[in-house]
Amino acid sequence: MAKLPPPQTAEQILSNPDTRDVVAKEIAHGNSDLIKALKIAGIAGPYEVVDPWRLQDPEGVVRINAGGYSATPFGDNYPELTEFLVRYLREGNSMGLPQQSASKWRAELEYRLVSKLTSFAPSHADSKVFFSNSGAEAIESAIKFTLHFRPKASCIINFTRAYHGKTTGALNLTPNPEYQQQLQRPSFDVITLPFGDSERFSREVERLGPGRIAGVILEPVQGEAGVIVPPREFLAHIDKTCKQHGIVTIADEIQTGLGRSGYWFASIEWGKMDPDIITLAKPLGGGLTATGATIARQKIFKKMLGGLHAKHQSNTFGGNSLAMAIGLKSLDIIEQENLVERAQRLGKIGARRLEALATAWPGLIAETRTMGMLFAARFQPVTPTRNIVYGPKQINSEFTGLLALMMWHKAGVLGNFSLNAQRTIRLTPALTMPEDLFLEMFDRLEQAAAEHRTAWRMFLRTPRKTVLKLANFALFS
Ligand SMILES: Cc1ncc(COP(=O)(O)O)c(C=O)c1O
Repeated sequence: MAKLPPPQTAEQILSNPDTRDVVAKEIAHGNSDLIKALKIAGIAGPYEVVDPWRLQDPEGVVRINAGGYSATPFGDNYPELTEFLVRYLREGNSMGLPQQSASKWRAELEYRLVSKLTSFAPSHADSKVFFSNSGAEAIESAIKFTLHFRPKASCIINFTRAYHGKTTGALNLTPNPEYQQQLQRPSFDVITLPFGDSERFSREVERLGPGRIAGVILEPVQGEAGVIVPPREFLAHIDKTCKQHGIVTIADEIQTGLGRSGYWFASIEWGKMDPDIITLAKPLGGGLTATGATIARQKIFKKMLGGLHAKHQSNTFGGNSLAMAIGLKSLDIIEQENLVERAQRLGKIGARRLEALATAWPGLIAETRTMGMLFAARFQPVTPTRNIVYGPKQINSEFTGLLALMMWHKAGVLGNFSLNAQRTIRLTPALTMPEDLFLEMFDRLEQAAAEHRTAWRMFLRTPRKTVLKLANFALFS
């Protein structure tokens, strides 16, 4: 192992932004293989914030940030939010631990979330909120609520290519064999049905018998699968069928919710559902903290947490004052700056620009899919027949995705991988991104596409040394 420089204190790091040793330290003690791959690809960073929407790499190159996996609704260091945070700390607010007491911040955020939800789904007027620290943890609570509510029913239905997180329970509901092979055994029965197929859903409910089904979980639009938008009637159909049988519906709005999709709650406003449980996370932390929320109807919440059972679901940090204050301020910003409407408007412009790329360069981009400020481009595979790194299909697909990410990176745009889709790169810019920068982002993508034209040329233009290192990494690590 390479000799590392001496450790630095937090104060040193704050005042001396020398980032040269960061990658080496990550490789030594972090998720080293991931960082190694990113280092070979030249995208490991670390990055410094230029403004809320742009990042600078160690070589001084400034790029437009459309990464962040939908968790940075305002970008980095959004003045409105950071100034609030500084004031919050300066005025002596505590973190709010332990939590066995009422908290002005938590109460207000609960109230605000339920009020907002109720404005679209009036049946939620007396719903309750359980706070946690990530999306997956919000899903864990949703699973527990559901299984408690229908104790005689043993299974939860999910859908192909869903992504609900990687903690054990959430992973049971993320039907990707690559991730699920880590599970020794499922902790409850899961039946995975095709996403978007209403008829098949009805048939399966009948075949299984509704009494066996505790709940159905879905993303209104599948984010990590590469922005898969189901037929609109599918969501309403699921909702109606479940209501007929008392099956619990869970809408996972962790990625789509609070504006990203162009809706506060896509499942309700777009999909015409009235879900029993709604999970939120990513933007609720304002890009500054990690906050998850599970909103459940009163009768479902009480079934698990009623009376002496009130402590049957708990965590140390969920609902802490700092996270709640930031969550509340984030809702204020979304509301005051009309970011939900903005996401719809800019989303339409972005959708047209991205689609034009696929039309102009079909040998490079196979398909684009969008919803609000969720943008995905599925690239053509780097041709296996002529490809010197020819290998299993999956390696080829991963490789294509990485090359596409590198191409956009070189063009000055930071994108996201898709955790449940290969060859698919997503853009999730801050909802506050100035319009000229937003348009410049697509100019840059256009220029990159015109330069590369096909996936094969994208491969040819990648330095041989990089290709060989990546191939070596993929095949022998
Ligand atoms: C729809 C959805 N659900 C759950 C999760 C898991 O959230 P987290 O990564 O915070 O655990 C994600 C993360 O991407 C997601 O997109």
